[in-house]
Amino acid sequence: LELKVSQSGGNASSPYLYGIMFEDISHSGDGTLYGQLLQNNGFQGVNVSIDPWKAVGQAQVRQDNATTIGKANHPTIAISAQGGANGSFGVSNPGYKGIRVLEGDYNTQFWLQGAYSGPVTVSLVNANDQSVLGSAKVDVKSESGSFTQYNTSIPVSKSASDGNNLWTLTFDAATASDGTLNLGFPLLYGETFKQRPNGLNAEVAETVNALNGSFLRFPGGNNIEGSSIDNRWKWNETLGPVQDRPGRQGNWGYPNTDGLGLIEYMEWCIDMDLAPVLDVWAGLTIGGGMVEPGAALEPYVQETMDELEFLLGDSSTPGGQYRASLGYQSPFDIPFVEVGNEDFLNNGGDSYPARFKQYYDAIHAKYPQLQIIATTAKQNGPAGVIDDLPEGVLQDVHQYLPPDQFVGNFSAFDHQPRSQPVIVGEYGSTTNNDGSTTDYPTMIGAVSEAVYAIGFERNSDVVRAAAFAPMLEHFGLRDWSPNLFGYDTTNGVTRSISYFVQQMFASNRGDKIHAVEADAGFGPVYWVASSAGGGQTFFVKMANYGASEQSVKVQLEGKTAAQLTVISAEEMESNLPGQEKVKPVVSEVQGEVGKFEVTLPAWSVAVLAAAK
Ligand code: AHR
Repeated sequence: LELKVSQSGGNASSPYLYGIMFEDISHSGDGTLYGQLLQNNGFQGVNVSIDPWKAVGQAQVRQDNATTIGKANHPTIAISAQGGANGSFGVSNPGYKGIRVLEGDYNTQFWLQGAYSGPVTVSLVNANDQSVLGSAKVDVKSESGSFTQYNTSIPVSKSASDGNNLWTLTFDAATASDGTLNLGFPLLYGETFKQRPNGLNAEVAETVNALNGSFLRFPGGNNIEGSSIDNRWKWNETLGPVQDRPGRQGNWGYPNTDGLGLIEYMEWCIDMDLAPVLDVWAGLTIGGGMVEPGAALEPYVQETMDELEFLLGDSSTPGGQYRASLGYQSPFDIPFVEVGNEDFLNNGGDSYPARFKQYYDAIHAKYPQLQIIATTAKQNGPAGVIDDLPEGVLQDVHQYLPPDQFVGNFSAFDHQPRSQPVIVGEYGSTTNNDGSTTDYPTMIGAVSEAVYAIGFERNSDVVRAAAFAPMLEHFGLRDWSPNLFGYDTTNGVTRSISYFVQQMFASNRGDKIHAVEADAGFGPVYWVASSAGGGQTFFVKMANYGASEQSVKVQLEGKTAAQLTVISAEEMESNLPGQEKVKPVVSEVQGEVGKFEVTLPAWSVAVLAAAK
């Protein structure tokens, strides 16, 4: 195959093309990316119980609904000595399938109520052999009738050998005058990204940051929708001190603490230089009915307008003042707002156009600068399925397909009317070609995603943004597969083959797409060429969706050296938890001026980047 890249002309490529989609699914938020490590710290959600809290020593522990903490009235844990117990007793928490304990300092905070004056010990303990990984003593003077907050650091001098670790809090039975203490809203953080208080888990966030995404679409996905109207994601209940946030029963079968709330999302965007794509609830619940367009929907439209005023209003507005009171004087920079998510679900498709219009009219009138996105009205449908979208509105297309169908969709956007821009808000190869579920991204799946991405990058004047979904799972707490990367408390993060493809593509962005003259048609090799910096650097992205190696001669006039990044493996190979077997390999390619010979292995994705 010979490819001759035209160096002149070219179509503009959207700066947002490769981004990140995030919702709390498979415990990607609570338990993984959000840095707070204790599970069920505030009895959030429905059907709460004392689980997974356990007694330590001769203690009795129970959920105390009468003694609550925070404006959200979280139940607390009553810890009492069993008749005549003495010695040290208390509670333990196993985190989310363990606690990953690494060398460094862990910050822990908790509230206590009950007459007690004496030391309390907080520790990180290995559950297999009871070895203490780190410990701190806190002098406590706690009173009955009101909670006192404590905050300390647990130093860990050596990383734990596995993730089966507990947080424990113990005190001296003999010193507790009435034998009972109430523990309220305990918190535990390891290192957080950019050292933010209540921030993101540093190790996981570094892996997100290394994706080099340009936008963050949040907080859903289905997790915005709620199993009932009252369980929808409510922006104003995710703000302020964490103990004041009620949390909610998320859509993926577990409670969300909302410790990762709206401000934390904005800080995430700031810290990783991501443009927010803010998804707002549009009246659809999953399983709990729907709010019809018209008067009934108006209070919820207003809820969105209040959220937007909080984010975008100046300090003369009540929303802007509220934001300033939380430490952010200046409005946030938000380019995109999406109305709803997959509103074809639950028979919502029929009313969505009217619901969308109601939100659009309100948002556009007040914030004409915002690019508004309409969600998909049909699953895996073509773009533009909602008729009569106002000019400038983007439509969000979601594609979850087997590899062959992704490849079949290579040219899906070639004929997209240029007046109807698109965001591919979610995509990923979820099933194998034989119809079986893909557990972890496979090589063939990742190549097919690359072919699809090459297809939309060729059309990135009209496809403005795209993101693989879901981004992250806690291995063992999975609601969906496959995911871009995963985490467990023994191995930390494991990046999939699809992760590396996304990273390769996002790290080699052009701002112009160039025409390529080829001596053969597309398939099994697919390609797209782009340039950045006024032609300083050229990128040629290629994918080989086939079982034979392919030789490609790339002509890039004037360039003498290039860097080639290739990822390849057996068709059905995957990176399994703790085993990153397949990774990109980088090499330097020298050539005659302007001519580069590249070998694409079977089932491979490659990027040739030429800067000189
Ligand atoms: O990414 C997983 C789910 O897929 C999202 O929550 C939803 O939008 C889609 O159906």
